[in-house]
Amino acid sequence: MKIAVIGAGNVGATLAGRWSALGHEVVLGAQDPASEKARATAASLGLTVSSLPEAAGQADVVLLATPGDVVIQAAQGCGDLTGKILVDATNPLNPQLSGLNHPEGLSSAQRLAMAIPGARVVKAFNTIGFGIMADPVLDGRRSVLFLSGDDREAVEQVSTLARETGFEPVVLGGLPTSRMQEEHALLWIHLSAKAGLGRDFAFSLVRRVAP
Ligand SMILES: NC(=O)c1ccc[n+]([C@@H]2O[C@H](COP(=O)([O-])OP(=O)(O)OC[C@H]3O[C@@H](n4cnc5c(N)ncnc54)[C@H](OP(=O)(O)O)[C@@H]3O)[C@@H](O)[C@H]2O)c1
Repeated sequence: MKIAVIGAGNVGATLAGRWSALGHEVVLGAQDPASEKARATAASLGLTVSSLPEAAGQADVVLLATPGDVVIQAAQGCGDLTGKILVDATNPLNPQLSGLNHPEGLSSAQRLAMAIPGARVVKAFNTIGFGIMADPVLDGRRSVLFLSGDDREAVEQVSTLARETGFEPVVLGGLPTSRMQEEHALLWIHLSAKAGLGRDFAFSLVRRVAP
């Protein structure tokens, strides 16, 4: 896959490195690709960094891994995203990381889809810490990764990517279910920061009968 990663911080850099190691064609997109920080991150991953529209323009899949409050602005800065799979890994967290901003009851991914109507929005990679994304197999079991989206083929492609990354993908349903994912992210953050679990844990599914 040709993947553009917008926002090469904790999440973006981790997934970019993982996907590149898996053989995908990954490019980083930054607001200021000439900045020392952007160039150093790209160099550490053995990748190139471009402007947002340059990076997104050459990709089939665009991962948004920016702070939640600027995700629509970042997507709008990517140029024409018509037909592209737009993966929203962000969470609309309040500054205390204790609650979510869901104006009119809409998730971040729903608002993103409304702002970028031609894109095939999939919510994923937002419910677990970035350290888990580097290696999602814990104690011999795959961490679960939830996905939501209205475009079934796009969800299927991101599920394949999630499985390659080491997760067990679980599709929740259409984009309205992305709200549950954002709530689930809050649960992970609470367990991590307030309930003493630290950052090296994830959720997995236990079944009585294998699927
Ligand atoms: N941290 C986690 O474990 C985790 C796990 C799951 C989901 N998430 C979610 O993933 C998102 C990213 O988290 P993170 O921890 O990776 O954050 P981070 O380390 O702060 O990285 C954010 C990245 O976004 C870039 N950025 C900021 N504003 C931008 C804009 N307007 N356009 C393009 N790029 C922009 C930043 O670039 P500059 O540094 O140059 O500003 C930086 O590279 C958040 O929404 C978070 O809730 C985080």
